[in-house]
Amino acid sequence: MPATGARPLGVEDEAGAAEAVRKMFDSIAPRYDLLNHVLSANIDRLWWRRAARRFRAVLAQPEAAVLDICCGTGDLTMALLKLRPRGARPILAADFSRNMLARGARKFGGPSFRPIAASAPYAIPLEADALHLPLADKSLDLIVTAFGFRNLANYEAGLREFHRVLKPGGQLGILEFSEPGGLIGKAYAVYFRRLLPAIGRMIIGRVSGGKDAPYNYLPSSVGKFPPPPELLALMQSTGYAACAWQPYTFGIAGLYTASKPPIV
Ligand SMILES: C[S@@+](CC[C@H](N)C(=O)[O-])C[C@H]1O[C@@H](n2cnc3c(N)ncnc32)[C@H](O)[C@@H]1O
Repeated sequence: MPATGARPLGVEDEAGAAEAVRKMFDSIAPRYDLLNHVLSANIDRLWWRRAARRFRAVLAQPEAAVLDICCGTGDLTMALLKLRPRGARPILAADFSRNMLARGARKFGGPSFRPIAASAPYAIPLEADALHLPLADKSLDLIVTAFGFRNLANYEAGLREFHRVLKPGGQLGILEFSEPGGLIGKAYAVYFRRLLPAIGRMIIGRVSGGKDAPYNYLPSSVGKFPPPPELLALMQSTGYAACAWQPYTFGIAGLYTASKPPIV
């Protein structure tokens, strides 16, 4: 049966799944950056930069309305900001975990969060649920998300919500993990399912949650996430055009891209 959305262990319904995910990120926020960089050997930095570069043309437009949804502690937002011209309209950086967002805002926020030069590009933090964005229909030129989409309680509802707020011709980029095939896939599976939870446990510390502790959630959520052909089919059926997937680093991660068709 195709996956409908994230389901942390022991949770059956969408509201419960969203609440469990939000609480988990709230609890690991202080250690999230360290965990990320150690577990990915810093390759995540290359992935954020590469994903941002894919949207260089739209980011270069000062008036472009850009949303980084599930921005967390803001590293993709920072990569996007590097490609914004001085004086550009601020990026919106949204997440439903207050603790993750607070950490992000210290990196990407405007003058009230950190000292920045006048006209330096910045982002506005927005506490919001990706499935119920407090944004007008057809208001955005670009939506990007890194490693957040997998956590949504309903993938189709997420794609529909993004479609609602994108302008006709607007673009979508979803950076997500995937499970590579072949020999690389086998070696990676050993790392991902055995070594990664052990390292994660050392960094986060032993937390309550047992089998559903954050370091177990990552591999299990990637294992349950639809493979690229399935997600691309879902993107097409929810009204997107030019749907494509570009594998990164042997397909350990990859960037889904699509656009909302312009009105003809
Ligand atoms: C793995 S982190 C990724 C953070 C950041 N984008 C990065 O690349 O490091 C996933 C983020 O998605 C957020 N998230 C998950 N579901 C969400 C939802 N329904 N609405 C808003 N944020 C959500 C979590 O709170 C968390 O901060």
